[in-house]
Amino acid sequence: MLLPDPALVVLVGASGSGKSTWASSRYRPAEVVSSDLLRGVVGSGEHDLDATVDAFALLEQVVSARVGRGLTTVVDTLGTDVVRRRRWLAAARTAGLPAVAVVLETPAAVCRSRNAARERPVPARVLTSQLASVAATADLLEAEGWQVVRVTPDEPTPDPPEPGGTARRPEFADPLIRSGLHGVVLQLSRFPADGDLLAWLRDMAAAAEEAGLAGIALMDHLIQIPQVGRAWDPIPEPWVTLGALAASSTRLQLGTLVTPVTFRAPGITAKAAATLSALTGGRAFVGVGAGWWEREHAAYALGFPSARARLDALEQSIETMRALWAPGTKPYAGQRVSLPETTSYPRPVGDLPLIVGGGGDRTLRIAARLGDGCNVPSDEVGLAKVERYLAMVREGGRDPSTVHATVLDLPLVGRDRDDVWSRVERHRGRAPAATFAARHHAGTATEHAVRLAGLAERGVTTAFIAPVGLDVPDDVLALAPLATAFG
Ligand code: CTP
Ligand code: MG
Repeated sequence: MLLPDPALVVLVGASGSGKSTWASSRYRPAEVVSSDLLRGVVGSGEHDLDATVDAFALLEQVVSARVGRGLTTVVDTLGTDVVRRRRWLAAARTAGLPAVAVVLETPAAVCRSRNAARERPVPARVLTSQLASVAATADLLEAEGWQVVRVTPDEPTPDPPEPGGTARRPEFADPLIRSGLHGVVLQLSRFPADGDLLAWLRDMAAAAEEAGLAGIALMDHLIQIPQVGRAWDPIPEPWVTLGALAASSTRLQLGTLVTPVTFRAPGITAKAAATLSALTGGRAFVGVGAGWWEREHAAYALGFPSARARLDALEQSIETMRALWAPGTKPYAGQRVSLPETTSYPRPVGDLPLIVGGGGDRTLRIAARLGDGCNVPSDEVGLAKVERYLAMVREGGRDPSTVHATVLDLPLVGRDRDDVWSRVERHRGRAPAATFAARHHAGTATEHAVRLAGLAERGVTTAFIAPVGLDVPDDVLALAPLATAFG
């Protein structure tokens, strides 16, 4: 049973039905607000009925504050008070959180025997009346607007869905699968400031192979970008670094995501990529883009022309690279570029996929017309662009199964729910926790695997992932469950 998350989750069940047990097996303690526990906070203990009014006042405050922040909130009370339920539901609606009512359908006899075994049982007639109001409540919930989930006792906890197991695998033409740039590719964007860079790269590559990832991509920037780190954090030159990775790995696809066409003359990028392809026996790819960060261009005395001129350059660059990768040495006279000869050795080994990064309309058209793939963010806006890109590919008379529809995904991956949320706290900076968690799909590796399998169903062939706070080989090994999300 996969409940929405974040969500407001209201438990409904009599004493001994197993509400608190259910909640604690799925949620962190801070996510559960329990009237019993609050009685123990403002009164002498969980059973201090004199503290009920104070406990519920606190409970309302906690629910309102958490839900207002968009944080998952599990309300552990009997759940039978319609006035409170309406208030919680309204708060969830205002915050845009799904509202789930979880009804514990534990048989009355089980509740009674569990109750009797307790140190301080609820009086039998009280339990009887609880059971009646729970049954009556259960009938109202759907009409009130709750998403109702029924929990029967001793229901075996379902295994988490097999990564990729439930997702239908799209039909791919064989050549694409053979090209290897298919699946989950790790993007390395942060590098150790001191220590042995080469040893670190080797260890990260070994971990990526062991985790079953499809490849490693490097950003191509001259100064570390503010989205990732501080300007004085190291960001090594990618083609040199990819050469080092080529010597460290026998299986990974290697390339840039993405190389701005403003940095190097296109022939020089073509040369570097073809060399990487030769070094790896055909495991290279090259991401290209129009470039966007003016500061690094100024700092390195590079021109930064208008967006239109940069997109023109993107088209010319792709055409130049393809001309130089083509067999032979003959002159080339194309639409945008003419070359007196195309003598460029070593030539690439097999395919050398050219992925065009960026989601602007003209960029997508360039990707569809001239590239082998696109790269856009993995959010809903990006997925709509994947759809548009694939439509453009079709309209251009190309077979969509021969292109790479790729996304960039920035997951926050934790070992378990506690670890996920401590990582959210560590990395969120000033962003509200719920916003940060949503942006990075904060969750366990298994949860990410299910999500990525969903992207595959929507036509995505490759996810480049740049996990939040990825520093050491163990962080890479923890990504193993994601590796098979694309089948
Ligand atoms: N229990 C169990 N098996 C379950 C669920 C609960 O044996 N699947 C036991 C718990 O260990 C506990 C008792 O049943 O001893 C009551 O469970 P609890 O989760 O505390 O029930 P609640 O609904 O929270 O009861 P209350 O309203 O009294 O807090
Ligand atoms: Mg309880």
